[in-house]
Amino acid sequence: MRNSILILLFTLFSCQKKSDVRVLKLAHGLDPSHSVHIAMVHLAEKVEEFSEGKMRIEIYPSQQLGAERELLELLQIGAIDITKTSAAVMENFSPLMQILSLPYLFRDSTHERNVLEGEIGKKILESGVPYYLRGLCYYDAGRRSFYTKEKPVNKPDDLEGLKIRVQASNTAIKLVQTFGGAATPIAFGELYTALQQGVVDGAENNPPSFYLTRHYEVCKYYSLNEHTAVPDVLLISEHTWQDLNDRERDWIIEAVQESAAYQRVLWQRSEQEALEAVVKAGVQIVRPDKSVFRDKVSKLGPELLDDPKVLEVFYQIQNAQ
Ligand code: GCU
Repeated sequence: MRNSILILLFTLFSCQKKSDVRVLKLAHGLDPSHSVHIAMVHLAEKVEEFSEGKMRIEIYPSQQLGAERELLELLQIGAIDITKTSAAVMENFSPLMQILSLPYLFRDSTHERNVLEGEIGKKILESGVPYYLRGLCYYDAGRRSFYTKEKPVNKPDDLEGLKIRVQASNTAIKLVQTFGGAATPIAFGELYTALQQGVVDGAENNPPSFYLTRHYEVCKYYSLNEHTAVPDVLLISEHTWQDLNDRERDWIIEAVQESAAYQRVLWQRSEQEALEAVVKAGVQIVRPDKSVFRDKVSKLGPELLDDPKVLEVFYQIQNAQ
């Protein structure tokens, strides 16, 4: 009898506690030692601090709840509250996002920062709202370059006949095909095995992802041709957003700003560390002439963007400072 009362009291107490705290579920596909994950832990800490414990973010990393495309679908129906995906995968939902996967889109990091942090970046970030995917911020994901198993890629012709893994993005497929490779979409989490078993001959990514996925154990050539600068995007379900009051939204907005700024600092360091670590593990770094790659794909933007509104934003980016 005494035990049942205790259990009853405990249950009542935990229910009470639960309803007092708003818990938001955040799922993503990166490794917990990735700078973006660390920045999202910072986000959770800040939200807890600003809300004085009234709001909590629970993080599920490493594709525990699915690959990026699935996570976006879960977000759309409100089954999870927040996710972080590559802008490449977002293009399946919001056409403006496609622009961010175009090759050599930014002249340099200043141009990139000006665009992403200015009005154009905001417009692209918010373009997912009609699809229930509200962008909150960009995270830095550096530049993507090719890595291969058997031979280095010094020029686009070296990709001829090679099966190259790409993200679930039509733009990424077209890009690799234009370089001459056979583009093969595979989920990020399945890529290690696909490389190992020879399903693909190589892939492309930024240094931290190449390192943290341990793909360098299989691919011994990394060619820093830096064809794209696809950022990561933090998104909240529009269902969740509409359910929050102004105060709750402010906690999130403020925490997101701090998280994004923190990640930019972490990124610089992690990129350098990743390159050093893969070299130590026997990877040969190639620094090819980027202009040869750039020339090969210079018309891809206007060719791929058939929606005049999307094309207009592309030209706005080209003309931005
Ligand atoms: C980057 C990006 C990930 C994405 C991955 C990929 O590492 O940060 O969000 O999943 O590329 O190539 O799939």
